[in-house]
Amino acid sequence: MVAIKLPKKLIEVALPLDDINIAAAREKSIRHGHPSTLHLWWARRPLVAARAVIFAQMVNDPGFEPSLKRGMNKHDAQIERERLFEIIRKLVLWENTNNEEVLEQARAEIWKSWRETCELNKNYPQAAELFNREKLPAFHDPFAGGGALPLEAQRLGLESYASDLNPVTVLINKAMIEIPPKFAGRAPVGAIPDNQKQINTHEDWSGAKGLAEDVRRYGYWMREEAFKRIGHLYPQVDLPTEYGGGKATVIAWLWARTVKSPNPAFSHVDVPLISTFILSSKKTVFQNCYC
Ligand SMILES: C[S@@+](CC[C@H](N)C(=O)[O-])C[C@H]1O[C@@H](n2cnc3c(N)ncnc32)[C@H](O)[C@@H]1O
Repeated sequence: MVAIKLPKKLIEVALPLDDINIAAAREKSIRHGHPSTLHLWWARRPLVAARAVIFAQMVNDPGFEPSLKRGMNKHDAQIERERLFEIIRKLVLWENTNNEEVLEQARAEIWKSWRETCELNKNYPQAAELFNREKLPAFHDPFAGGGALPLEAQRLGLESYASDLNPVTVLINKAMIEIPPKFAGRAPVGAIPDNQKQINTHEDWSGAKGLAEDVRRYGYWMREEAFKRIGHLYPQVDLPTEYGGGKATVIAWLWARTVKSPNPAFSHVDVPLISTFILSSKKTVFQNCYC
């Protein structure tokens, strides 16, 4: 029986963990363009960590493996590993999430490793099916949850599949990895909103930009429509001067029972039975309650 020859993967030998950790921690503060703003999902993995892990699982370690007669001597392998680490360091920067130059470099390394694996296994009986140098192996996360892994596998050029027991995650994954590629490169079709400021008028509809624009247009339409129907429940209030003064739209109400004040001088005043008016105590969020 011919055994499959599997070169050691980079992830089995070394990773630039500090860089990955720093980037993963930074990602938590990303509020724009992150799937966590599409739908909350617990135990969601940071995208950049998923990206680094998949890359390091797909790329062969450069170290010498006598049994496979592949790889480099210790000194050269260390230099080569450092080159691969540099790719990972760029890959995990959030700003590079859609940087085609960086992604292409990573994809090229994945292809190079795959072709080395195919070459090692060219005499395997099912080589044509299992080790096709023109077709990367597909990726499947059967417990996909928030979809960090299949999304990043797709970004790195792998055909990506996701499944999960929970229909909510199935919907999240459909929205992230199944639907966008169907509209890749297409211009938006939704009606342009009256308020031009709401729309992105540039003409570059590469990737999922056209689809994103359509979602934005639809969101604008929904907002306007909701405002027409229930806007009267969200009136404008006067902001205290310490919060900049002027008017602001109320977006949430605290519900509380009230009792008449026990103080005879204020017996006509309704007192809310509530222990705090603070909605958030985080420094960066201005969410106090005005009653
Ligand atoms: C920890 S989460 C996965 C998180 C995901 N990797 C991410 O980055 O968001 C585990 C997932 O496994 C799913 N799961 C648990 N048991 C399962 C089963 N028997 N079949 C399919 N999915 C299952 C859960 O619904 C949950 O979404």
